[in-house]
Formats: sequence, C-alpha cells, structure tokens
Amino acid sequence: MKTKTAKATATAHPNIALIKYWGDFDSNLHIPVNGSISMNLRELFTRTSVSFDPYLGHDQFTLDGRQVSGSGLERVSSLLERVRQMAGITISASVESHNNFPTGSGVASSASGFAALSLAASKATGLDLDEKSLSRLARTGSGSACRSILKGFVEWQAGSSDQESYAYSIAPPEHWDLVDCIVLVSQDEKPFSSSLGHTLAQTSLLQSVRVADAPRRLRICRNAIFNSDFDALANVVELDSNLMHAVMLTSSPSLLYWHPNTVTIMQAVQSWHKAGLPVCYTIDAGPNVHVLCPGDVSGEVAERLKQLSGVVKVLVTHPGGPAMLENGPLNP
Ligand code: DP6
Repeated sequence: MKTKTAKATATAHPNIALIKYWGDFDSNLHIPVNGSISMNLRELFTRTSVSFDPYLGHDQFTLDGRQVSGSGLERVSSLLERVRQMAGITISASVESHNNFPTGSGVASSASGFAALSLAASKATGLDLDEKSLSRLARTGSGSACRSILKGFVEWQAGSSDQESYAYSIAPPEHWDLVDCIVLVSQDEKPFSSSLGHTLAQTSLLQSVRVADAPRRLRICRNAIFNSDFDALANVVELDSNLMHAVMLTSSPSLLYWHPNTVTIMQAVQSWHKAGLPVCYTIDAGPNVHVLCPGDVSGEVAERLKQLSGVVKVLVTHPGGPAMLENGPLNP
C-alpha cells in the first residue's frame, strides 16, 4: 500500500428525503437536529474511482471529466483525510467521479457522490468498514450521503454525537414500488447551498416547532412505508416538505428556492390528489419538484406532468439499492 497505487471503484444512488434533514447542531460533522427518512433513486447514480498514489503530491478530483478545485476539492480532500487517518497512511489520492444525470439537473449529487467516495476510498486503503461506519463516514462529507450507503427506504437516526448519528435500511427496494417522478423546472445552479440553509435554520421562529414534532412525523412515515399505505405517506410527506420550506422562508435572511413553475406543479398535484389520483409532492433545497405515486399510476402521472407549462423534463425513478463496489456488494 505504501509503495504502489491502490484503487477501488464504487457506485451509489442519490436519495429523496421523505422526512427532511434541515438544520444541524454540528455543521462540521453534520449532526442533524432531527432524524430523517429517504428512498434511494435506482435509475440515477454516481460512479467514483479512488486511487491512492505515492507519486501524487496532493489530492486531485475530476467530476464528469472536469478538474475541480477550491471548496469542491477541499470537501473531497477532508473526507480522504479521515480515511487516511483511519488507515494510518499519508498518501494523496486521485478521485474520478461521474454522474449519470447531468450536474445542474437539479438532482443533488452530493449524497450519491460522498456515499460512493466513502466506499471506494475506504476499500482502496484496505479498510473493511461495516455499513454503520461507512454511513458515519459518508455523513461527514454531506449529511444526506449517510442515507445513500444503505438500500431502499432508509432512516437516519439523528443521534447527538459522531458515534450515534448514522443511517440504516428500514425496508428493501422491492418492498414497495413507490415511484418518484422528478420534475425539472430549472437547470440553474441553486442560489443558496444546503450547508448555508442548515446553519440559518435556527434563525426561523418555526424551526423549534418543526423539530419538536419530527418524531411524530417520522413514526407516521415509517408506518406508512411498512404498510405500503400511500395516503398516509402522502399527507406526512407534503406536510414535512411544507414545514421545511416554511422554515427556509422565515430564516434570516429568507431562503426562497421555488420558481413560479414550482408552484404550478404543487397546485396541479394537490388538485389531482383531491380528485382521487394517489399522488403527492416533496421539494428539496431547489426549485424542482419530486412527485411521488404508486407504480401502477406512474405512467399517467408522468404524462400529466409533461403537459404542464414550464416543465423541462420528467425523470421517472424507482426505489434503489445500496452503495456497491464495482466488483461486488458492500457486504458480500
Ligand atoms: C433539503 O445533505 O445536502 O435535501 O450536509 O450540508 O451537505 P450538507 O447538506 P445536504 O442537505 C440535504 C437537505 C435536503 C433534505 C434532505 O435530504 O434530508
């Protein structure tokens, strides 16, 4: 290891939060103020190769063929540094990452990116981390990445320390054919990073109420997943998304992520649901809308969404598996 290149490649899916992480009490370690639940998105993935090379003077990172410098490289480098400390090495690494979805498509790639990086980097150094340790490691790169390590439907227990804050799978992908139709209304770079939003959340008068009620919403969401109960899921998912955006809007300064077309879709989805179509929306820190529905109506929902004004693209995604090494599963 100390004299020759050691390489590993891993893939991971992004995830959509059904109950959101918003606000952390440790912004370095990404320890959140509330637990969250998500679903991995099968059709989308990041593939990352990491090579520790004794002849490199410093870490290098390319994303979709482009060399990354500045804060993007620093974030990757600090995760590599954690791995080096765990493995007891000092060698620099070259990281090559590709998303099969366009960067700037509005789908956050930090979750899949840091999950794939954690698995590939730890494996390349010869470490054999279990799911819990990998989830904790990925969390230090980007909070939501800790959920992309595990398969299917995943809960992140907030905890109050590095040891206690990690994610675990609560149901495999085949448990429920829940579909996420991702509606792209804008491909612009988002105006405020999630990291900034997490630190501002506490400036909203509404954040303490949102956080205090989180255990109740988590319980309802967990049970809705266990029972494949779409109506129960729809109500709690929309409520949770609206609560997070209420906090964003009432933070100081105020964070407004929506475009006018975001609201068009929210209204359409609410009226379809009222008319009996099983459908609901959830929105992360950006203008694009995730429209959830059971698999048997996903064709109709996607067609309806494409007819709405301002819709750039609809990506239809299903529950996805865990982060995987190129030549074998995470825990064979
Ligand atoms: C709205 O995980 O992107 O998508 O930890 O600063 O990298 P950092 O933040 P990030 O925040 C995700 C916010 C969210 C909700 C969620 O995924 O739970």
